[in-house]
Amino acid sequence: NTYVVIMAGGIGSRFWPFSRVNHPKQFHDVLGIGESMIQTTYKRFNGVCPPENIYVVTHRDYINLVQEHLPELPESQILQEPIGRNTAPCIAYACYKIAKKNPGANIVVAPADHVILREEAFISCVKEGLEATAKDDILVTLGIKPTRPDTGYGYIQFIDDQHNALKKVKTFTEKPSLEIAQMFLDSGEFVWNAGIFIWNAQTILKAFRQHLSDMAETFEEGISVFDTQDEEAFISRAYSHCRNISIDYGLMEKADNVFVILGDFGWSDLGTWNSLYSLSEKTTEGNVIDGNVLLYDVNNCIVKTPQDHLVVVQGLQDYIVAAHDNIFMVCRREDEQKVKDFMADAKAIK
Ligand code: GDD
Ligand code: MG
Repeated sequence: NTYVVIMAGGIGSRFWPFSRVNHPKQFHDVLGIGESMIQTTYKRFNGVCPPENIYVVTHRDYINLVQEHLPELPESQILQEPIGRNTAPCIAYACYKIAKKNPGANIVVAPADHVILREEAFISCVKEGLEATAKDDILVTLGIKPTRPDTGYGYIQFIDDQHNALKKVKTFTEKPSLEIAQMFLDSGEFVWNAGIFIWNAQTILKAFRQHLSDMAETFEEGISVFDTQDEEAFISRAYSHCRNISIDYGLMEKADNVFVILGDFGWSDLGTWNSLYSLSEKTTEGNVIDGNVLLYDVNNCIVKTPQDHLVVVQGLQDYIVAAHDNIFMVCRREDEQKVKDFMADAKAIK
């Protein structure tokens, strides 16, 4: 009864210029391990459910990339979106479709672009979640102990029950301001939302009806056309009605049946330059270097440039220096959330 949905339609805008609209980071070998992030993600779920129960949801433009990276995945398990509308419509499409196939389905939803160093520990958390959602009407998410006041994550406050791995969520705050993130971190009461969700089909459909009723209405109509030749036309229409909203803002912040399982499996979102910085090996000066570089009086910087360019940097502290294809960016590390605006502006002037 278990299904896995891999969300792979994001453009990784905070990782620009390494992540580009025509080649987002899930299709890159970000860690230099010989496989792309989506390949690692797909392999990770082998064994959690049969291969015919794994779905990838992505933008129409990335279908070829998905097929190239996952040649073993049949086309019928790649769900095509006509436009990117963030994660709520992506999850609605997949969950309504799976619910039609198997009303008793138990579903794991995961991003395609996360690093998980300890796979066994991760899988055991997922299985714990699946056991719970097989019985109960609850929305489960995985929580990670925070290490910095990152404003790119959701923060979860929970009721600590020592005897139970599953902890009832008190509050869920998506992407707080830096001030609030710092408060959450200092209080010691919060964990990061890993963005990996577990629920059964009926519970998530009910939650859509309750918190995103317009979206629920839109997709309920689809039940009659899923897996027929009318699916594509229906989805095009449906997406044109959908709001652009993430599951976190649209549903998780509002639901009152959310539970968290605390995980310690070497997780990183790799969503931004600083997350790559945290994860990477540093020189004695605190620099992370990938490229052909000469550094003078440079500390705590991340420098990622193509091998065929010699890059010389002097006198920089706490900066991102990144070049990819025809784009070169220098940005203060603390301002990394602005990178997605640079991407938008660069597109506008092109
Ligand atoms: N198919 C599809 N369509 N996938 C999408 C879309 C879309 O329109 N938008 C985003 N995704 C995919 C991304 O590729 C990524 O794998 C995943 O959905 C999550 O989207 P992000 O855009 O990376 O979300 P985030 O990192 O800002 O925030 C989420 O993850 C954090 C942890 O990494 C939230 O769940 C936060 O609460 C959480 O802390
Ligand atoms: Mg992310």
